[in-house]
Amino acid sequence: MQKLKNIGLLTSGGDSPGMNAAIRAIVRTALHHDIVPMGIMNGYQGMIEGQIRELKTTDVSNIIQRGGTILKTARSKAFMTEEGMEKAYQNLLKNDISSLILIGGDGTFRGAVEFFKKYQIPAIGLPGTIDNDLSGTDYTIGFDTAVNTAVWAIDKIRDTAESHNRLFIIEVMGRDAGYIALQSGIACGAEHIFIPEQQEGLEAFINAVSNDHRRKKLTNIIVVAEGDEFGGAYKLATIINDKLPEVETRVSILGHMQRGGTPSCFDRILASRLGYAAVEALIQGRTLEMAGLVNNEIMFTPFSSCVKLQKPIANDLIDIISVLAK
Ligand code: F6P
Repeated sequence: MQKLKNIGLLTSGGDSPGMNAAIRAIVRTALHHDIVPMGIMNGYQGMIEGQIRELKTTDVSNIIQRGGTILKTARSKAFMTEEGMEKAYQNLLKNDISSLILIGGDGTFRGAVEFFKKYQIPAIGLPGTIDNDLSGTDYTIGFDTAVNTAVWAIDKIRDTAESHNRLFIIEVMGRDAGYIALQSGIACGAEHIFIPEQQEGLEAFINAVSNDHRRKKLTNIIVVAEGDEFGGAYKLATIINDKLPEVETRVSILGHMQRGGTPSCFDRILASRLGYAAVEALIQGRTLEMAGLVNNEIMFTPFSSCVKLQKPIANDLIDIISVLAK
């Protein structure tokens, strides 16, 4: 066990509900070990610009229930340049920071690997993205809240869809991943989902909706991930209108509401467990690994294996949709 100097802490990439709960856990665990936590604002960009300050226990009071991130977040291109990294390193030295905890996605972790190669700054990562598309963890911080927000919204849409006998195409987030679409679709009894992981064409879907109309099932909820094979809900609606002019369609894009709001109990606990584990891991001398939850146990996975899009979608979930929507 080594006594650590100051730990630098940042959030990077798209924000996700539960990031604040993770920040709180990291700060309080560090203080418990008499280590000074230093908040770096605006992700790697703030590291380059020296936006760094000590975090006291009161700085993280009353944030466990708040969405967003008190440290703000950004996607920094400058950090991937030699000049940017050198400036960032000098700012870490100035603040006596000798290790980092990063909350973000695989891009965030790739940055840490490059930085380590040049300056040997140990880093531990926490998976923070609503997309749930990182291998090395069953759940990312924010996914559960985002799915529940989508479910809340889709339930409301079903009420009006049913009143008017309409087919609704509801677009949820997920540029490259269909986890939000899949889970919210199952939970809301969607008749069909379209996700980037499955290229299936439209034939079976069009036949199913035509049959529905013949047997007078007039309401359809279709959940589409924004990165689906047709290019999102509006494009899909145009194709459906063309092929099924007798069906009245409407489009609803849920958008960034899925990224905000009070984190669910699950996300708060996940963030607290992973934040605690990240500090303990640095103390034990681990580096370049992400703390994740696998089968309800904390597991560490090398950053090089925490790659976006390498988490398979369970086939039984895909099968459930078509069987239960009869
Ligand atoms: O990665 C999370 C995510 O919310 C994706 O689902 C979405 O495609 C993207 O971020 C949106 O990013 P931005 O807020 O930069 O438009």
